[in-house]
Order: sequence, then structure tokens, then C-alpha cells
Amino acid sequence: KEAKLWGGRFEESVTDAVERFTESISFDKELYKHDIMGSKAHASMLAKQGLMSISDRDSIIQGLDKIERSIENGEFVWRTDREDVHMNIEAALTDMIGEPAKKLHTARSRNDQVLTDFRLWCRDAIDKIVARIEHLQVALVSLALKNEGLIVPGYTHLQRAQPVLLQHLLLAFVEQLERDAGRLLDCRARLNFCPLGACALAGTGLPIDRFMTSDALGFTSPMRNSIDAVSDRDFVLEFLSANSIIAIHLSRLGEEWVLWASEEFGFITPSDAVSTGSSIMPQKKNPDPMELVRGKSARVIGDLVTLLTLCKGLPLAYNRDLQEDKEPAFDSVKTILGMLEVSAEFAQNITFNRERIHKALPAGHLDATTLADYLVKKGVPFRTSHDIVGRSVALCVSKACQLQDLHLDELRTISPVFDQDVYEYLGVENAVKKFSSYGSTGLECVATQLDYWVAKLEIN
Ligand code: ARG
Repeated sequence: KEAKLWGGRFEESVTDAVERFTESISFDKELYKHDIMGSKAHASMLAKQGLMSISDRDSIIQGLDKIERSIENGEFVWRTDREDVHMNIEAALTDMIGEPAKKLHTARSRNDQVLTDFRLWCRDAIDKIVARIEHLQVALVSLALKNEGLIVPGYTHLQRAQPVLLQHLLLAFVEQLERDAGRLLDCRARLNFCPLGACALAGTGLPIDRFMTSDALGFTSPMRNSIDAVSDRDFVLEFLSANSIIAIHLSRLGEEWVLWASEEFGFITPSDAVSTGSSIMPQKKNPDPMELVRGKSARVIGDLVTLLTLCKGLPLAYNRDLQEDKEPAFDSVKTILGMLEVSAEFAQNITFNRERIHKALPAGHLDATTLADYLVKKGVPFRTSHDIVGRSVALCVSKACQLQDLHLDELRTISPVFDQDVYEYLGVENAVKKFSSYGSTGLECVATQLDYWVAKLEIN
């Protein structure tokens, strides 16, 4: 067996079970790129500070570049007995270049190293997620552009409430996604501080320059407190919290579309390309991708809960428990990226059934609130007008008709304020036209919102 990099004080080697149980190489190899990046910056700093020679630095950097290439073309052999990504790369470097490699770990611990890698990894992951969020926003805005003027029932309590423009509704999801991206960018700014040089926990007496490595790696500055630097996982907690909120938003979008695709709603038809069938019922065409978007939100929340539970009760500073922070983060990111991608594809592959929606619109007295506003405009106090319209709706229910079907004299038996112009307020088309408040579903208000997003997302 090869001696461990930390093996000096040990007389016996670890059992196979302990080796298998404690390894992290099976998953933390995901960090290889950032580990190499960090090591190159560290070596350059050590050389600049006179802690290694320029020629040692150069052979380290060339060796690391070679290792990176061999990882990327699949030739690199990851060894469980070398425990984790840091020791795999360092040991491979030693195999390759010999003595100079032994200087690389000067003024560095795996504790600050792993966090440097992980913060760099999270930073890249955030950039990927933000790009996919924007891609989904573009898909939703494009879907809105294709469906100009389409009115759909708006719901509260899943009961018909008021008529809204479909565009308005789709843009509601776009707004949510914008805040989701904002949360990630806030998190990115807060996590972009460099732990490298914190060493095991106390820092070092060697003359390192933490500002140099921090700059080289694109961090804002080194972390102020070395103990905090190796203990902190709140940056991942914040990241996975932001992911969980995205997951909830996508799950709600999924639920909406699953409902809309049902026979009962029949608002949308997903194309075959985003549907799957049943192994027994030949007629079935199911919106599985959006069901799975809803379903996978559970994993993303689970990943956050795993990490919260992991951190609870840990004393300062580094504890090996913290090695368990990677898999939930990797899973959360992979899952969110998939959810965003598939949601965008779904959006690109649905058609709204205008006819069917149009036929369904008269049901549910969607214009009742607009009618109440009509009476307010005539000077009736709102509470009174609410009551008058309520009684008008009751009359419709007893006659099985719509508000617009009531004759003026019938309406006048309920309130003498009703006049011929009431019919300009009734029916969903008329009702939608009456909305005018900022952010409302009125045609112009929605057009303004749509213009905003078309310009912001640079859709042509
Ligand atoms: N694989 C470890 C982790 O992910 C690296 C840090 C190990 N540090 C230690 N002192 N054993 O947390």
C-alpha cells in the first residue's frame, strides 16, 4: 500500500472499510478544475513570496496543466486510497514531477483548499443557473408574444375569479424568475471571498500574500477571519436556499401546466415531443416533464435540508462531517439546471387552445367585480355595490344565465343605478378592457409589461 500524504505518525494503515467509508474522491472529483486553478494561484504566490523557486513554480504549473488535460481526456486514474480530489491531484503531481510538488502544500491545508475549490465551483454553478433562468424567461415571453389578446380565466382558491390576459399570467412567472436570479447574484457576491491561506484554521507564520491569491482567483478579497473561513458553510446554505425557491416556483409552474393540459381544463396541448404515454392505456398522453419538474423540487428542498441538518451543532472549526456538504450541492445544481431546461422546452412546445378557452370563458361570472366597479363609478359605495352585484349573480344562478344576459329592467329591480351603459362592462372582453391600474391586466398595462421584458431580455 502507498503511504498516505499524512502518514508520518501512523504505524498501521486504515482498514478497507474505513478507506471506503471516508473517501470523497467518488464525488469531489467534480472540483478538479477549481482545485487546479487554486493550486496554480497558490504556487505563483509562494514563488513571488520566496517560498519556492521560480523553476519549481513552473514545473508545478506545467504538471498541473498536464493533469488537467489527462482528467479531461479520461486518462487520469482516480484512486480511492488517495482519499479526495486534493490528494489525488497532489500525489499525481508528485508522481509526475517529483520534489517540487512537495512544496505545493506550503501554508495550505485541505480545509482552506476545499473551500476555495467549492466557492469557485459555486460561483460557476450560479452563472450557469442564471443563464438558464434567463433562457426560461425568454421562452415564457416568447410564448406570451405568440398569444396576444388571449383572455383566460384567472383563479383564486382554484375557483374562477376575474378574466386576465394570458400574457399577464405568463409574465407573472417571468417576474418570479427575475427575483430568483437576483437572489443567486446576491449569494454570488456574498460568497465571492477567498478562504485560501486560512490554512487549517489559524493562518500561518509563513510570509504568504492572501491578497494576491484572492485577486488571481477573481475573489473580492481574502476572508477576514481564518477560523470563519474554514468553518463557514452558510454560502452553500444560501445557494441551496435560493435553489429551493427556484424549485418551488418551477413546481408551481409545473402544476399549472399539468392542470391546463387536463381534459377538464383543456387550455393547452403539449406537443408529442414533450409528452409521454402509458404502457397500458393506449390513448394516454401525459405531461410527464412538468410532473417531474414538480417532483424534482422535492430533491432540491431535500438537499437544502440535508445541509442544514449537517451544519446544525457542529463546533468550530473544520469537522470531517463537512465533507458531506458536496453531494447535496452537486445534486441541487444538477437538478435545478435540468428543471430549468425542461421547463423552457415545455414552454416552447405548447399550444393554447383558443377555441376551447373562449368557450369556457362565460362560466363563472368573471365580470362581476368589474360590474361592482361600474356602480362605484356611478357613486355607489363599494360595500353596497358588492351587495348589489352579489344579488345580481344570485339572480343569474337561479336563471342559469350570465350577467350580460340580464335585462336592464331585471338589473334595475336590484338597483336603479344600473343604466344602458352597464353592458359596456359585461362579458369578459369588456371586463378586461376596463382594467387600467399600474400592473393590472388591462391591454395597455400588459403591453407595457411585455415591452419591458422584450427590451430587457433583448428578444427581437
Ligand atoms: N475531503 C475533505 C472535505 O471535503 C477535504 C478536507 C479534509 N480535511 C481534513 N482535515 N481531513 O471536507
